[in-house]
Amino acid sequence: MSRFVFYGDCCSGIPGGPYERHFARVNAGLRRLKPPPDFIVFLGDHIMGNPAHADRLRQQWRYWLDKEMGWLAPLQIPIFHVTSNHNTFNRISERVWREVFPDIPRQAPPGQEGLSYWVRRGDLLLVVVNTSFSGLGGHGHVESAWLDTVLTKHSDARYRIVAGHHPVFPVNGYDERPLWCIARGEAERFWSVLARHRVLAYLCSHIIAFDVQDHDGVLQICSGGAGTNYGPGGFMGKGEYHHFVQATLTPDAFRLKTVDIHGKTRERFTRSLSGVARPANPPRASCRCG
Ligand SMILES: [Fe+2]
Repeated sequence: MSRFVFYGDCCSGIPGGPYERHFARVNAGLRRLKPPPDFIVFLGDHIMGNPAHADRLRQQWRYWLDKEMGWLAPLQIPIFHVTSNHNTFNRISERVWREVFPDIPRQAPPGQEGLSYWVRRGDLLLVVVNTSFSGLGGHGHVESAWLDTVLTKHSDARYRIVAGHHPVFPVNGYDERPLWCIARGEAERFWSVLARHRVLAYLCSHIIAFDVQDHDGVLQICSGGAGTNYGPGGFMGKGEYHHFVQATLTPDAFRLKTVDIHGKTRERFTRSLSGVARPANPPRASCRCG
């Protein structure tokens, strides 16, 4: 069994900033989890990230890591970080990211060392992709060849999960590409790789929402509830709320529940994994990306 938490999008790192209080309330619920999660995936947009001055970015990261997330260090819970449009929006911010996270594994596509990576935890493979790489055109772009290689190499992993910041499929109507979703041609290649390798889920953020979609047998799970409020129109979508997602992975099922800032469970989702006969060589999937 694996228990983990994923959440993202707080755009914080600034003392007294607009979303610090929301993020603290989300974290308060996370800290009450018993048992604590085995690991955490933070799906990007940790910091506000603007202006693009290296020292200002370093200050935001230090505040985010040492103050806002300082509670995590004594618990020794691994946290896997995902690049994003607020974190790594140009070469300067990519450089600062690498300084801030020197321990991120360096196995990556060319030029993306420390930005994309994979980790193996027993039966679980987690691949973190970079959907904002300056060398590929910035936000909403993603590479698939390296991803294909990693998934092939780890075909023995019982569970394969991929995490990135930008959704592939539109969430709550945010369908402009590459602003809100991965660029169309790249999205199709990317999703075809996920489907061919029978990836369980693609975890993403960027849209202030909780949303689950099934495409070609692969789940796209969006969680952008860690504290940010804005989006087009200045608000999160109607019915959305700040939250983190608690995930439980067993041979029988992949279970999710969202926990809001009051510590209340708001939504649940279960993907049964028992009795799911998946073909050894599934037909090549086609992606209809919005
Ligand atoms: Fe974002």
